[in-house]
Amino acid sequence: MFSLKIIIASTRPGRKGPSIGAWIHEVAKQHGAFEVTLLDLAIINLPFFDEPFHPRLQKYQHEHTKNWSTVIDNADAFIIVTPEYNFGYTAPLKNALDFLYNEWNYKPIAFVSYGGVAGGTRCVQMLKQVVTAQKMMPVTEAVQIPFFTTHFNEHDVFVANEGIQKSAEVMLAELEKWAGPLKTMRVKNKY
Ligand SMILES: Cc1cc2nc3c(=O)[nH]c(=O)nc-3n(C[C@H](O)[C@H](O)[C@H](O)COP(=O)(O)O)c2cc1C
Repeated sequence: MFSLKIIIASTRPGRKGPSIGAWIHEVAKQHGAFEVTLLDLAIINLPFFDEPFHPRLQKYQHEHTKNWSTVIDNADAFIIVTPEYNFGYTAPLKNALDFLYNEWNYKPIAFVSYGGVAGGTRCVQMLKQVVTAQKMMPVTEAVQIPFFTTHFNEHDVFVANEGIQKSAEVMLAELEKWAGPLKTMRVKNKY
């Protein structure tokens, strides 16, 4: 089994991220290839990046960084659940990414994005640029949810339609495909 961490990228009070996160968490568990953990950046509550050294050196000064490092180091794959804010990624997500470097390396990453007409895709395009700098492999298959508010029921629970459900299953299959080969690449460099 691969360790899959799902990261909820929005932190504001009243946000919709956790409802969509809860849905993809269930779908990922059903998939069967992953030990799945849901991580909420609002709960993890990292401060603005406050380490004096480049994360590549792993000379972490703060407990919050050491804890975040342990959580991310333990992962074989990621799913980011994200809205787009002003056509881009959320500040808490970029901050959480910047805290670490080696812990992200050679791991596949997939995106569940939501928004208006663009379904959060402009944020995902921006994120791909960032995560490849961290040597992650963004998988092509994704879940994009345009006009996402139409998929919430009267109890404010996200309910996926058939197309969204199918796209999640295809994305998870692709994530699994990358998780094995990339694991073999995570050997310590001898130089
Ligand atoms: C600061 C901010 C910027 C936003 N910018 C966009 C945007 O560029 N595109 C979009 O589709 N929706 C945008 N929205 C609307 C969000 O899609 C909607 O508020 C969504 O619920 C945000 O996700 P969250 O509830 O998990 O925070 C924006 C919302 C906020 C709060």
